Amino acid sequence: MQKMPWKGGLFGDATLAKHIRKGDLPMESVLERARQEITALREEIRHHDYRYYVLNSPEISDAEYDRLMRRLRELEAVYPALITPDSPTQRVGGAPLAAFGQVEHLVPLLSLDNAVTQAELWEFDSRIQRRWQGESLTYVVEPKIDGLAVALTYEDGVLVRGATRGDGERGEDITQNLRTIASVPLRLRGDEVPPILDVRGEAYMDRRAFDELNQRRGAAGEPLFANPRNAAAGSLRQLDPQITAGRRLSVFMYALGYYEGLDLATHWQVLEYLRQVGFRVNPLIERCSDIAAVWEYCQKLQTERDGLTYDIDGAVVKVDSLAAQAGLGATGKSPRWAVAFKFPAEEATTVVEDIIIQVGRTGALTPLALLRPVEVAGSTVSRATLHNADVLKAKDVRIGDTVIIRKAGDVIPEIVKPVESKRTGQERIFVFPSHCPVCNAEVQRLPGEAVSRCIGTACPAQLVEGLVHFASRGAMDIEGLGPALISQLVETGLVKDAADIYVLSAEELLKLPRVGKKSAENLLAAIEASKSRTLARVVYALGIRLVGEAAARELAAHFGTMDRLLATSREELQQIPQIGDKIADSITTFMAEPQNQRVIQRLKEAGITMTETPVRPMAESSLLEGKTVVLTGTLERYSRQKAAELVRSLGGKVTNSVTGKTDYVIAGANPGSKYAKAMEMKIPILAEADLDGLLEG
Ligand code: IVH
Repeated sequence: MQKMPWKGGLFGDATLAKHIRKGDLPMESVLERARQEITALREEIRHHDYRYYVLNSPEISDAEYDRLMRRLRELEAVYPALITPDSPTQRVGGAPLAAFGQVEHLVPLLSLDNAVTQAELWEFDSRIQRRWQGESLTYVVEPKIDGLAVALTYEDGVLVRGATRGDGERGEDITQNLRTIASVPLRLRGDEVPPILDVRGEAYMDRRAFDELNQRRGAAGEPLFANPRNAAAGSLRQLDPQITAGRRLSVFMYALGYYEGLDLATHWQVLEYLRQVGFRVNPLIERCSDIAAVWEYCQKLQTERDGLTYDIDGAVVKVDSLAAQAGLGATGKSPRWAVAFKFPAEEATTVVEDIIIQVGRTGALTPLALLRPVEVAGSTVSRATLHNADVLKAKDVRIGDTVIIRKAGDVIPEIVKPVESKRTGQERIFVFPSHCPVCNAEVQRLPGEAVSRCIGTACPAQLVEGLVHFASRGAMDIEGLGPALISQLVETGLVKDAADIYVLSAEELLKLPRVGKKSAENLLAAIEASKSRTLARVVYALGIRLVGEAAARELAAHFGTMDRLLATSREELQQIPQIGDKIADSITTFMAEPQNQRVIQRLKEAGITMTETPVRPMAESSLLEGKTVVLTGTLERYSRQKAAELVRSLGGKVTNSVTGKTDYVIAGANPGSKYAKAMEMKIPILAEADLDGLLEG
């Protein structure tokens, strides 16, 4: 990468301006300097785009990146003549169109035949073996991204056209919309680019962007998108590229259409090449030596499906050899050398039997639809979230409605939309309550917030949920103290706050239905054991709004004792790197409440850990000191929680996703996509036994 030719600014520099006025620095040389800095900045930005989008391994912070972009924008504003269409600043440009033009594809975009069963996959393989008598064939298997097929055309390395698939022969010209997608390169990397390159892939919206978009639309009273695919399609069909730019779309590219002068023999090489010139290629793609390995891949992918950040609807199996692909040819619109192995649908139709309101521990009211049980993507679904009053209204789901439900990712299933044609007129509109269905206190909705909350401080629902959280695994981890027992304890009045748990007696417990001598003893032992949890867990267990496990650890490490945390100020909290303004506010409000202070005091009297016992790394030169570690798969002897604590006790930091900053991945049985990614990024992978080894020093 070229370094910036000189430090400092070009304009806004008084000395420079003076020279120009005096005429002893000719305008041409000023322009030349600008040109050089602009070129260097563009190269640097493209390099960082590549690190971020293709390698998933950024080298600089977002702030640093923004600084580069800002500088480039400034320069281009002063020297507009130097703006080129492939500049990173020129993603969103052009006026809204009146209509999309038509594009004839250089090579048609084919579609795929489907296989649904294992037998159909084997049939696909035998068909190929029969037709292809040459050397034995390997396959490449890819996730089938549930988005929209697109074709991108580059001339001399510069993006000139982007189109939808259309009927395969002709699509719509959506160039200015595709340009707004950050992972679509406006210019290819490297100097050896062919005169024409036609690349195919899938544009999609990830689940998070989709959820946020629908939240925003719900709040604005706009119709919601049914699923990420529709949202992606709707976003790319906008005539105003400004709207598309606000939709956070992504692409994965997976094939070449027309190209000249490249020496490629296999599909695997095509993918490598695509990565090399700057395209985002899915990291889960693998090569399989035979159809049995393909089947295994499909099974594995299906188990990982929920954990992905985007929707897939199957796997695409492709013959690796390009010569064999050409030899096998196509029938009608589908190639003989590829097949789509489809996963069970994530959507199903059922009936809303009732709509109820759940009150969470922060008092948030969530509407839930109770459904006639239905099978979706391998599990039975009987309830679906309706999120909040806005979403309920936007979706207009009524009791008795036939609805399409969707279960994507490891989230609670949700209702896509009612099937209006099935309405009989008997359906009932659900009215969002103005009072808490549990304690009858008023329901409040603050301006700008999507959630409605019960304001009753003594609301039993909040108490039950709060106690469930208090006793949960990541918090005080009191085995045997689950939601059912907690509800009983609250209903009988034995427990009115978390501190009451620690004064429960065997006699009291034995009076409860379904509690025997043995279970009472076990419960009391578990309660006793919970007294020695770390301060971080105690802080987390308190259930302070916005304080998750990571923030709680941060607070425990910073303050060292509960008393110091109790006495803290907003200002002091804001000094802590991970604690933002909102969290700081939430903590100070919580700590200022006399009720909460009393509970903390009583917890302390009950003998619960209130100071941080500093966990020192075992050895000075611990292998994990200062290292970033990601956990994946099921460990045999440790829960995730415990393993994370061990890593931290060895001086390491545990994060959720594998990035360029990850030092080690600890993998247990059935590891997920994090494992695949670590392999691909060549990040050292440790087994459970290695962790044991480290602990033994
Ligand atoms: S290959 C000739 N690979 O699935 C091969 N398609 O029904 C053509 N899709 O229209 C497509 N992920 O929109 C291929 N990794 C992948 C894919 C993929 C998603 C879509 C694509 C295509 C449809 C085929």
